[in-house]
Amino acid sequence: MRLFSTILLTVATLFFYGCEDSAKKLVMVTTATFPPYEYVSGDKIDGIDPEIIIRISERLGYSVEIQDMSFDSVLAAVQSGKADIAASGITVTEERKKKVDFTTPYVIAEQLIIVKNDSPIKSAADLMKKRIGVQHGTTGDSYVTENIGEPERYKEAPTAVAALIAGKLDAVVIDSEPAKVYVSRNPGLKLLKKPLTYEEYAFAVSKDNPELLKKINTELIKMQQSGELESIIKHYKEINSESSQNGAISDNKTFLERIKDSFQTNFAKNNRYMYLVKGFIVTLEVTFFAVILGIIIGFTVAVIRSCADQTGKLKIADMLCKIYLTVIRGTPVVVQLMIIYFVIFSSVNVDKVLVAIVAFGINSGAYVAEIIRGGIMAVDKGQMEAGRSLGLSYIQSMKSIILPQAFKNVLPALGNEFIVLLKETSVSGYIALQDLTKGGDIIRSQTYDAFLPLIAVALIYLAVVIFLSYMLGILEKRLKKNE
Ligand code: ARG
Repeated sequence: MRLFSTILLTVATLFFYGCEDSAKKLVMVTTATFPPYEYVSGDKIDGIDPEIIIRISERLGYSVEIQDMSFDSVLAAVQSGKADIAASGITVTEERKKKVDFTTPYVIAEQLIIVKNDSPIKSAADLMKKRIGVQHGTTGDSYVTENIGEPERYKEAPTAVAALIAGKLDAVVIDSEPAKVYVSRNPGLKLLKKPLTYEEYAFAVSKDNPELLKKINTELIKMQQSGELESIIKHYKEINSESSQNGAISDNKTFLERIKDSFQTNFAKNNRYMYLVKGFIVTLEVTFFAVILGIIIGFTVAVIRSCADQTGKLKIADMLCKIYLTVIRGTPVVVQLMIIYFVIFSSVNVDKVLVAIVAFGINSGAYVAEIIRGGIMAVDKGQMEAGRSLGLSYIQSMKSIILPQAFKNVLPALGNEFIVLLKETSVSGYIALQDLTKGGDIIRSQTYDAFLPLIAVALIYLAVVIFLSYMLGILEKRLKKNE
């Protein structure tokens, strides 16, 4: 009981800690795989958009918190009030104008076609019936869908580029400046000169916040007139155009040399391995607390349900538990995670780690509940009868006779559940939490190399699972000895 209350207290503290004061803070959302507009650089998100927003906010007396998420969630985040401003190289379109308000445009852009150097595709006309990659939810996506044919939609632009390099696509349609950066970093690629369309970028604000829109516009126009805007854009274009950013891997090297190079680029260069280290810590943190939350929920639900089964009491609680089990086990955990983040916690600014802990904890609780209930049911009926005839109450017999035996029986199944949970947290990237898997994704988006980052991520999960299984084995042996 003491342990439980300590844990509850910790969770509560974490929660309040998560709801920071949002008074003088602007939350900006973006998709940071879009250089030079926004990209992850070391610990922070850098680029034209963050720079402009930070400068404007400084003048308005706000601090800025930048959140990274997939592009198809960026506008929704502003619309739902989760974020104050979306700055993500967003093209102004009529359709989007219905959902959010746009500031005055700050830059003109184009949609360009990237192909391999030796590609037979020479112009847009050659794109018909070809495998075209786009970033999901972008104007490139809608252009191709409407004018050329069904594209292959990737969550992140660099993944589409990596697929092109790997020969899985014939072309990628993407905004001009990022296209130039991707091509300059990958010698095997080239750009077709003629743009597909022209467009304008602007920042997006909620329709409920005309005041903020006005303030931003005033500052933005000032920056435009003073030339400040132009110099920011120029600066970021320059620092991103240095080619060989990731030390392109040349062809006339032995296999081992190439692996060594790739190791350098993917992990050593710019301390990229830190994405894995930090991601790993987040993954462990989320898993650990979710396991605890799952046990608390699962245990409670299992006891309520068994009690209802055996004594016919607690009818209403039993029904609630059944609904919980049906809903949680009947829907995918990613969807639950996103509902909790984007719907339930939509207006409060909570820490993402906490959201993930809550989501995975609630999810795991359902499975743990059934595992424990199975364990309780497996204990011979006579045990409870014996307890009761010795004068113990239902709860006492449960506590000192049934549950200890049940626990031993369910240990392997519980261990299994925790292993599953650890790996399931890999979908945390959907709410832009930088867990281990996402850490690998960030590296991939910078190096366009799939092999080593993915293998490294896989090996780390594997190592943890092996360690977990080993510890569970020891625990099982201990319990057997105590019999
Ligand atoms: N300009 C395009 C659009 O608005 C693509 C923007 C993608 N932005 C990003 N940060 N990945 O649809």
